[in-house]
Order: sequence, then C-alpha cells, then structure tokens
Amino acid sequence: MRGKFITLEGGEGCGKSTQAKLLCEYLQAKGIETVLTKEPGGTEEGAVLRRLLVTGDKDKFDAVTECLLYYADRRQHLSKLVWPALEQGKWVISDRYADSTEAYQYYGYDKRIDYATLQNMYKIVAGEFKPDLTLILDMPPEVGMRRSFAKAADMATQELRFESRQIDFHHNLRRGFLEIAKREPQRCAVVNADTTIEILQQNIRQIIQERLGV
Ligand code: TMP
Repeated sequence: MRGKFITLEGGEGCGKSTQAKLLCEYLQAKGIETVLTKEPGGTEEGAVLRRLLVTGDKDKFDAVTECLLYYADRRQHLSKLVWPALEQGKWVISDRYADSTEAYQYYGYDKRIDYATLQNMYKIVAGEFKPDLTLILDMPPEVGMRRSFAKAADMATQELRFESRQIDFHHNLRRGFLEIAKREPQRCAVVNADTTIEILQQNIRQIIQERLGV
C-alpha cells in the first residue's frame, strides 16, 4: 500500500524541524517505516540549490527565478526521493513543501508574482499530487524571529536570507499560511506553535491519530 505524505509548514523559528523529527520517531515506534526529509535541499542536488536560495542578499533573485529554483528543487525531491519512498509503502515527512512557496514567494512578497503562474509551476512539477496532511505551525512572527536569530547565533549559520526581511514580510507569511489552511481544511491543520516542544508534539500526534488513524 502506498505510504502517506505529511508536510510541516510555518514561518521562521516555529519549531518545524524539531517537531518533524519527533513525529518521525513516533511513527517509527508504531512500526511505520518513515523517511524524514526537507525542502529546499532534500536531495544531493537540492543541497546545492538550497545554498543558493537561503544565503546572500535578500533581493538577489527576480521573483520568477526564485520560484523556479524552489520548484526545480521540489521536482528533484519528488522524483528522486518522495515518490519512490511512497511507492515502497514508506511514509514521508517533509519539513516544508509547496505551501512555503505560496506563503513566502506570493503572500510574503505582497503578491509580486502572478498566482496563476505559481499554480502552473505546481502542475508542471507535481501534477495532481498533494500531501495527505499538512501541519501548519502557527505563532506570532515576533516570537519566531527571536528564536530563529538566537539559533542562528548559536550555529553561526549563514542561512538568514529570509530572516533579514522586515517584520511585515513575516506577518504576510503568517496570513498566507492561515489563508491556505482556510481554503483547504481537509488537507491542512493549524497548530498553535507558541507553546512547549512537548505540548506541541502531543497536539500534532492527536491530529495524526484523528486524520490518519495512527
Ligand atoms: P527552513 O526554514 O526550513 O530552513 O527553510 C529555508 C528557507 O527557505 C526558509 O526561510 C523558507 C524558505 N522557503 C521559501 O521561501 N520557499 C519555499 O518554497 C521553501 C520550501 C522554503
């Protein structure tokens, strides 16, 4: 039987990566073979694109170029990793997927790219394929940004291209994710991420049980 595709989405510093890892451990403990991956950079080739996308000047790309690069990473990720794993019956958890493109490149930048263009890119890359469940980790951007900068200082990371944008960008992002969830309530679940790691994980597991029965 084909596996399930679960995506985690949210703004900067919302704790997606930690939660994705904990969710993966939970599913594996239930005997489900689960692959944990991410976008951008879920494949070897995607890692090169990730470096281009998350470092450097915040205005370095034209709007369409930026979307195409995320979609190139996505196609490679789907065709090399996600689809084969699902076919083998494995479950796949991805730390970000296409809702991030809509939230960041469309809503975040105040709709500087045409929405139909974005949808066409999705169709070319993924066709009718969609996640079985998308968890949207929601929190006030001010809290997420504080966390994100603290983590970056700890790790001396250069991956601050989006963090360096004004707070308005991050409020747009949040609105974007909530808009997506409202439009697709069957696929998406919004979870309050402004809480402890443990409570957030508990709430995520409850949603997994309700929606996917495990
Ligand atoms: P991360 O927060 O998971 O490390 O993701 C890297 C950055 O890439 C993050 O700032 C969000 C951004 N991003 C987009 O702008 N569009 C996309 O489609 C994806 C997948 C990520």
